[in-house]
Amino acid sequence: MPKDGAVPSGHTNHREEDMRISDFCFIVAGLSALAGMCLGISMGISQDFTLSPAHAHLNLLGWVSMAVFGLYHRGTGRTGGALGWTQVGAGAVGAVLMSGGLAAYLSNHDDTFMPLVVAGSLAALAGMLLFVAATVRSAAGTAAHPDGNKAPRHARASGRDRAGRG
Ligand code: HEM
Repeated sequence: MPKDGAVPSGHTNHREEDMRISDFCFIVAGLSALAGMCLGISMGISQDFTLSPAHAHLNLLGWVSMAVFGLYHRGTGRTGGALGWTQVGAGAVGAVLMSGGLAAYLSNHDDTFMPLVVAGSLAALAGMLLFVAATVRSAAGTAAHPDGNKAPRHARASGRDRAGRG
């Protein structure tokens, strides 16, 4: 990387923080897939499908959604900061609480676990709302600055870009 912070040809302008956000997403996604697949295999072996909804939500909110979030953040590299972390954090909390709460509720048929499911679903919804906010914000920035780099030159040179405001 040149001293003035310019991005060499062939390199993206991703910030360190953006890479960490996508890494976080892929780690949560991979762990969710492992746990969800193990649960699926266990259901198949035992022929007890009571936890099917927990398995489905762990795979879809944990593996699929978090992987898509990670691909988005890795691909744009423009939505770091508080918005980005809150968005992926809400998605991860939603996946864990929703599937864990569903598993506990379905295993015990105990209504005391229902608040976990409700909290998880609201967190997942919040994560998706923030994802929409991030994409709209990013799209607006790209439209205003078609070169894909909206940050003022002095901010780019010092390693700060528009992601720092997200
Ligand atoms: C090792 C991998 C997997 C195994 C062994 C597995 C196994 C199962 C089993 C045994 C069921 C219950 C079927 C039934 O009720 O008759 C099921 C349901 C389901 N699985 Fe998987 N699964 C795997 C991966 C995945 C993945 C990666 C996803 C999504 C990305 C997924 C989504 C679903 C959904 C949506 C259902 C339906 C849940 C319901 O009807 O309540 N599964 N799976």
